[in-house]
Amino acid sequence: MEKPPTRVRVLPHPQLCPEGSEFDAKAGRKLVDELLAHGIAIEHACEKVGACATCHVHLREGGEHVAPADDEEEDQLDDAWGLDAQSRLACCVKVKGPGLVVELPRYTKNHAREA
Ligand code: FES
Repeated sequence: MEKPPTRVRVLPHPQLCPEGSEFDAKAGRKLVDELLAHGIAIEHACEKVGACATCHVHLREGGEHVAPADDEEEDQLDDAWGLDAQSRLACCVKVKGPGLVVELPRYTKNHAREA
């Protein structure tokens, strides 16, 4: 039986979604794929294999429902801009649980380098 969808709420971000966004995401899919499928052009420089940290997001709510980060993800996150305790790589998070609140960091690793 198919799992019920997860309600994803994305907080407003000046470039990627100024009004914020809300959508139903398929449980088990990568969060980065669900964001892209719903019009949020999050960076994914390594093509979603957990090797670049440009898909860094903050899971402001619901993070307790998804699998915790493994050591490789933690290592990549060390390079992310604006790292905090709710930081995750969107390509390493499989959507799960009743709802997630996602904040997109103001900058990605790439932009922080250019600045
Ligand atoms: S897309 Fe590169 S770490 Fe997620």
